[in-house]
Amino acid sequence: MTPEPAARALPAALDLGGRVALVTGASRGIGRAIAITLAQRGAQVAVNYARNEAAAAEVCTAIVAAGGRAMPFGFDVGDEAAVESGIKAVVAGLGGLDILVNNAGVSIDALLMRARAEDFDALHRINLRGAFLCAKAATRHLLKAKERGRIINLTSVVGEQGNAGQAMYAATKAGLIGLTKSIARELASRGVTVNAVAPGFIDTDMTQAALQGDARAALLVQIPLGRIGLADEIAEAVAFLAAPAAAYVTGHVLRVNGGLLI
Ligand SMILES: NC(=O)c1ccc[n+]([C@@H]2O[C@H](COP(=O)([O-])OP(=O)(O)OC[C@H]3O[C@@H](n4cnc5c(N)ncnc54)[C@H](OP(=O)(O)O)[C@@H]3O)[C@@H](O)[C@H]2O)c1
Repeated sequence: MTPEPAARALPAALDLGGRVALVTGASRGIGRAIAITLAQRGAQVAVNYARNEAAAAEVCTAIVAAGGRAMPFGFDVGDEAAVESGIKAVVAGLGGLDILVNNAGVSIDALLMRARAEDFDALHRINLRGAFLCAKAATRHLLKAKERGRIINLTSVVGEQGNAGQAMYAATKAGLIGLTKSIARELASRGVTVNAVAPGFIDTDMTQAALQGDARAALLVQIPLGRIGLADEIAEAVAFLAAPAAAYVTGHVLRVNGGLLI
């Protein structure tokens, strides 16, 4: 009889044991996949959400059932006071903060001539101001984490290449790249790294309406790898940047887009 292969331990360079990670917008989609992957690598995870408490609780239950540690924390990333008290609650509840993943985001698509200033403000408030507020409130704790400290911001392929009908959304995502590179320079002397992950098109609630029928087929011909991406594939990139393996990577925008933008 062939013996069972021994369970393979995680290489130390990818191990997140002993770290606390906060993932914003982790109740669904890409954030959910990131929370689960970071927990699989050994991190305790704070699962942030805005409204969907039941979904956040389900993410925590899945993590705990698999032997990990996670707690839900509901707060609106666009609200400064809520972010400050939310991050204090994470630090008190999980014993510190080493990794911040600014994933919470929303999209509203409109051609420029039909776009509404109030929609621009709403996108800016969550996608860019939200990441700024979370980074600002987390930094004191990340500095204590020293070379374990990480900020990882979810930008987008459209933040780099633009997209007709997405000027408002793309502007917030381009802004995140400037935020990433500037904070990377500020925190580097303390060993804290700051990077961005730029997904292409990923199957989640956010892209549900846009990725149907003819629009999906038209998009697929532009993607060299010939398919829409998976939330788990974004989570793998985030887990790498969070890990000791990426200690010398900072200020980088890691494209995970099937070749859509090269
Ligand atoms: N899907 C794509 O193709 C794609 C491509 C490039 C970049 N991205 C970026 O990746 C990130 C995740 O996208 P996704 O597709 O996973 O989105 P999604 O499925 O629509 O999920 C959005 C998440 O953000 C949370 N959220 C929304 N507003 C919030 C607020 N004010 N405070 C805290 N959390 C809030 C939601 O919480 P509730 O459940 O409580 O509402 C939810 O967990 C976003 O930043 C997005 O721009 C996505």
